[in-house]
Amino acid sequence: MSDLFAGLAQRTPLGAQACVLHGFALPVAEELLAAIKAIAAAAPFRHLVTPGGHVMQVAMTNCGTFGWCSDRRGYRYERCDPASGQPWPPLPEAFLQLAREAAAEAGFAGYVPDACLVNRYAPGARLSLHQDRDEDDRVAPIVSVSLGLPATFLFGGHVRGDRTVRVPLAHGDVVVWGGVDRMRFHGVLPVPPGRDPRTGGARLNLTFRKVR
Ligand code: SIN
Ligand code: FE2
Repeated sequence: MSDLFAGLAQRTPLGAQACVLHGFALPVAEELLAAIKAIAAAAPFRHLVTPGGHVMQVAMTNCGTFGWCSDRRGYRYERCDPASGQPWPPLPEAFLQLAREAAAEAGFAGYVPDACLVNRYAPGARLSLHQDRDEDDRVAPIVSVSLGLPATFLFGGHVRGDRTVRVPLAHGDVVVWGGVDRMRFHGVLPVPPGRDPRTGGARLNLTFRKVR
């Protein structure tokens, strides 16, 4: 582990290959927020439409080789932002380093993500229970970084109806799930109202993925 993150890994296990690393991103939080601003200037946050025609409550953008997209035709990864036709902004070095260190800390050495979905939750926004299943790699971990307003993460099983645990997530927390836990259902309860000048009053979340 690099010195930057050493000694900060207070963890809560969520499964055999899933855990919360509390405060793991705190040393680089300001850097991450500045990078998110730059990404959003090039590829603005937008509310995607689901294949069923619902407008998502969470605003999204992407960086990396692949960006997650949804519209009436389905869910998929695209190399270019459909809004601009331009490639997604590259993964900032600070993102790659944090994702690699968090994955290693959780037992996944050598993690190199090729996509990062950036989620923005205004107070009241939620993300319903789902599996991340649009990636070709179903073993490499998802690394999920929380910034700004706190929220409750739901972590379930391999079947939608399985019971879920409620995981409180604060600014700087990182959740990692991969291997046998990679396909577990998860979601986010409505973000409670709050003030957070660091994020303009929102919860921001980065989820790193290995798509190809
Ligand atoms: C996601 O499942 O893509 C996001 C999870 C989160 O916002 O914590
Ligand atoms: Fe997800």
